[in-house]
Amino acid sequence: MPTTIRKLAEMKRAGEKIPMVTAYDYTAARIADAAGIPIILVGDSLGMVVLGYDSTIPVTMDDMVRHGRMVSRGASEALVVVDLPFMAYQVDPAEALRNAGRLMQEGGAHTVKLEGGVAIADTVRRIVDAGVPVMGHIGLTPQSVNALGGYRVQGRTRAAARRLLDDALALQDAGAYSVVLECVPSQLARLITQRLTIPTIGIGAGPDCDGQVQVFHDMLGLFADFVPRHARQYAKLAEDMGKAFRRYADDVRSGAFPAEAESFTMNEQVLADLLES
Ligand code: KIV
Repeated sequence: MPTTIRKLAEMKRAGEKIPMVTAYDYTAARIADAAGIPIILVGDSLGMVVLGYDSTIPVTMDDMVRHGRMVSRGASEALVVVDLPFMAYQVDPAEALRNAGRLMQEGGAHTVKLEGGVAIADTVRRIVDAGVPVMGHIGLTPQSVNALGGYRVQGRTRAAARRLLDDALALQDAGAYSVVLECVPSQLARLITQRLTIPTIGIGAGPDCDGQVQVFHDMLGLFADFVPRHARQYAKLAEDMGKAFRRYADDVRSGAFPAEAESFTMNEQVLADLLES
């Protein structure tokens, strides 16, 4: 059964945890979907793990539309959430709504995600009122990395924790159906999760969120540069891929690849005729 935002609300009420992973193309989306992951996020993290930028800031609407389309073709059951990239929603609510609509019409999104709390609550309301479900994202908001002074845990002081609680409540009041809590102390994530009626999805926010999200390159060991503290590696695909590429190169150099089983033949008479002509 396809995941709906209604189903996610029921999962929170039933205490059923919600797994979510990122995917950026058709193949990864198909694998995650077939594994029963109910939410696939086309995160703007694609800027770092796919496009090779050092932050998510250069990611464009065209990038998100292209990768959203790839993922939506691979996901038949999962809810596909596509990120609004930096400056696609901050300038004014009308432009934000147009961009959210574009992610749905052209990018195959079922819902969109954007970063921020109280400051963008009116924008969230405008998008939701137009029929586009919105997932919020607070705490460490990577599009604001320069304003935050780096990728660091948020909400550790009393004032900062209060602000995050207010942000979460403002998103819920504005009609968001869920909110991502990134890199916040577990105790604060638990408090926010208890106060909200909509599901919280944590990343580096402890075990008490209603769901968890991970960047699949981190959890599969595909991004070799570093492993964030909040990630658990379930595979070492970069290592496995490196080994496979080396074996392939050795086989090509030695002539062991391709063998007969990997080659095609033609009728010997056709070959003989060709040689005579
Ligand atoms: O872009 C992304 O992958 C995200 C997750 C880290 C939540 O926003």
